[in-house]
Amino acid sequence: MNVSVYPAPAEAERAAASIVAAQLQRKPGSVLGLPTGRTSLGIYRELARLHAERIVDFSRAHTFNVDEFTGLTSKDRRSFCAFMEKHLFRKINLPKSHIHFLDGHAADLESECDAFEREITEAGGMDLLLLGIGANGHIGFNEPGTSLHARSHRAKLTTETRRANAALFGGRLTAVPREALTMGIATLLEAAAIVLVATGKSKAQAVRSMFTGQITTARPASVLQLHKNVKVILDLAAAEKSFPH
Ligand code: GLP
Repeated sequence: MNVSVYPAPAEAERAAASIVAAQLQRKPGSVLGLPTGRTSLGIYRELARLHAERIVDFSRAHTFNVDEFTGLTSKDRRSFCAFMEKHLFRKINLPKSHIHFLDGHAADLESECDAFEREITEAGGMDLLLLGIGANGHIGFNEPGTSLHARSHRAKLTTETRRANAALFGGRLTAVPREALTMGIATLLEAAAIVLVATGKSKAQAVRSMFTGQITTARPASVLQLHKNVKVILDLAAAEKSFPH
């Protein structure tokens, strides 16, 4: 795995955004896999800036978000769909029909996951997948214990993960859905290239699990060691348990 450590989160976020920008310059019709969460905010801010400066054009790109809560409509301001709209999509020129989301409000969630998998395949697969990491090592919403073979599926969220997402729900843990839909680990590993970004001390332990040489479903991000094109972008705090300075 290729690792870059930056002094501060903002520099790590800019580095991740510039990889996305370079990908779109090289292949304007790229299929991107996108995360949500605190870590993605700075990346999306930078991508919006690069777009405003006409450095990045999204008009031919396609995006697939990695996960979504169940039980929320896409219009719900607490959904990941609304998060993406607010922080990225309304600021760039990505056609609405090129945006793909797991619909956590679908009547049949299993069929929704199957349809999403088909859409990824029909788009030609993900060229570049951007990922964050949970403090427990989850990627997407693949919590510890998820099978390596999992494709997009309905996932139970741990209390720790629900707590980490509580900010979207006014800080109320009880308001955070207990389940989500997520691309599975097998889906994620099929992306041609993966960029994982982690910043802050709270991610240091989870980051370490990616560099042990051991693969365990107890730390889902450790499976990235199986992929041949992964770039890990860290700030000093997230790197401290793996690459002490
Ligand atoms: C969330 C999301 C992930 C995200 C991760 C890190 O629960 N499901 O897709 O990458 O956890 O989030 P954050 O960047 O807010 O720490």
